Amino acid sequence: MGEIVRLQKYIAMSGAASRRAAEKLIDEGRVSVNGKRVTEQGVKVEIGSDEVALDGKVIKTASKKVYIALNKPAGYVTTVHDQFDRPTVMELVQELNTRVFPVGRLDYETEGLLIMTNDGVWANKVTHPRYEASKRYYAVLKGVLSIASLNGIRRGVVIDGRKTAPAECEIKEIEGGKTLVEITIHEGRNRQVRKMFDAVGNPVIELKRVQVGNVQLGHLPEGRWRYLTSGEIGYFMNK
Ligand code: URA
Repeated sequence: MGEIVRLQKYIAMSGAASRRAAEKLIDEGRVSVNGKRVTEQGVKVEIGSDEVALDGKVIKTASKKVYIALNKPAGYVTTVHDQFDRPTVMELVQELNTRVFPVGRLDYETEGLLIMTNDGVWANKVTHPRYEASKRYYAVLKGVLSIASLNGIRRGVVIDGRKTAPAECEIKEIEGGKTLVEITIHEGRNRQVRKMFDAVGNPVIELKRVQVGNVQLGHLPEGRWRYLTSGEIGYFMNK
């Protein structure tokens, strides 16, 4: 998955010619994409995927790595395609013009921080169990969470036949027969937070992720994205 750029930009990025000169090369019929000569301007190519040649010689360019944080709204899937045709997070990052993929997943109904990138090696570090990137959530629970259940969540509860690792959990508010909690987990099992609270009899009504590693959701509006800072990228890079 690479960045999608105009052909003349690709040629300029490869160092073969300036952008203006590249347009001329295209006009002159000296450039081909995937073995087919291109003479019109405006053709787009994908870095790392399409093969661009000048005078029959393949020219390469480095793909730019992109790292972003998206505030995923509820009602979006974090897969690239959905078999049920539901909206995907890919639709929210279209203006990036670069194909990025979700790092880890959030349920369809879960909102909040989703990191996306085109850097597979880095993504692996974020999600690999060995690095235990912590994930912090706010969850609205049905009912009043008892102290015994709170302690159970902290120590670990059995889900899918296996006990969860110790987690940090705090009650933030109890109102109208619901409990707002903040929970930080250090694993990434499927629907983990929902299953943990199901296990103690307080199902999750709303779930929002607010932090992954050192990346915070902050005040990013719903449905919007921002680039990660070099400090955020480096945190995982150096794991
Ligand atoms: N835990 C869940 O149950 N759902 C998520 O989306 C993320 C963590």
